[in-house]
Amino acid sequence: MKRLIDKNKFGPWAIVTGASSGIGKGIARQLAADGLNLILVARRLPLLEEIGKSLSGEFGIEYRVIEADLGQEGAVKKIAELTGDLDIGLLVSNAGTGKPGKFLSFSHGEQKYFLQLNALSHFDLTYCFGRKMAKRKSGGILITGAMGATDGVPYMASMAASKALLLSLGKSLHYEFKEFGINITILVTTPTDTAIIPLLGFDKDTMPMKPITVEQCVSEALGALAKNRISVMPGFKFRVTNALVPASVSRNMTGELMKKNNHIV
Ligand SMILES: NC(=O)c1ccc[n+]([C@@H]2O[C@H](COP(=O)([O-])OP(=O)(O)OC[C@H]3O[C@@H](n4cnc5c(N)ncnc54)[C@H](OP(=O)(O)O)[C@@H]3O)[C@@H](O)[C@H]2O)c1
Repeated sequence: MKRLIDKNKFGPWAIVTGASSGIGKGIARQLAADGLNLILVARRLPLLEEIGKSLSGEFGIEYRVIEADLGQEGAVKKIAELTGDLDIGLLVSNAGTGKPGKFLSFSHGEQKYFLQLNALSHFDLTYCFGRKMAKRKSGGILITGAMGATDGVPYMASMAASKALLLSLGKSLHYEFKEFGINITILVTTPTDTAIIPLLGFDKDTMPMKPITVEQCVSEALGALAKNRISVMPGFKFRVTNALVPASVSRNMTGELMKKNNHIV
């Protein structure tokens, strides 16, 4: 595997949230190949154990697993406590999910859970581990956002709003964190072939534009972090579409597709 991340700057330990599947799992594999030890975080502990064991066997790294529901308020405190003895040079704040539906059809409690998971947990992790990295004067933070978030995504309103918060937070901190030697990049995730695609009601084979592979997403995301790019939108075809199609057009198209695919009436 091609090396993407310098373990002297971003090691010896990296935290990856949402490491049990999809993009987070792919990032964990690349970081292990780069020689970083891993703290793997998600809710499905058996999957994390399996991934940690396999990466440790293949690349000779150390790992620790943490079961945490990042939609719950105390989760980041738990992660901080369970990693207090480790020198962490990289945070990949990636865990998240989406549930299509009308904004008002969810209970207020459900909407707050989505916000905690998709926005506040990233905010808290960035604050907590940003402080530690500032003290050591080096490190990196990669936060997983989403394409289209700043323009709104009908029937995914709280997820889009959460991801828009992350983009703005990251852009501000990109300037502020330079004095601490901390790279920070927002991954503006474009459709990527993971479990989230069917969850959002799409079929990867019939989507208007085919999703990119996890490998491509990971390679462009970590490559951008290594260069301290403020953000990265993987996949040339998505960058072109994003540049050419007006937000009002893509928002209306997405709204229609979300409604049709998820039988929203
Ligand atoms: N793939 C895409 O097209 C796409 C597009 C836009 C944005 N994204 C973003 O990319 C990120 C990764 O998603 P993915 O595409 O890789 O999908 P995925 O395969 O479903 O992975 C989601 C990861 O997040 C974890 N997670 C979900 N809810 C959690 C919770 N409450 N607490 C802790 N961990 C939780 C999951 O682990 P457990 O289930 O084990 O907890 C899993 O490891 C997400 O933030 C998503 O919003 C993806």
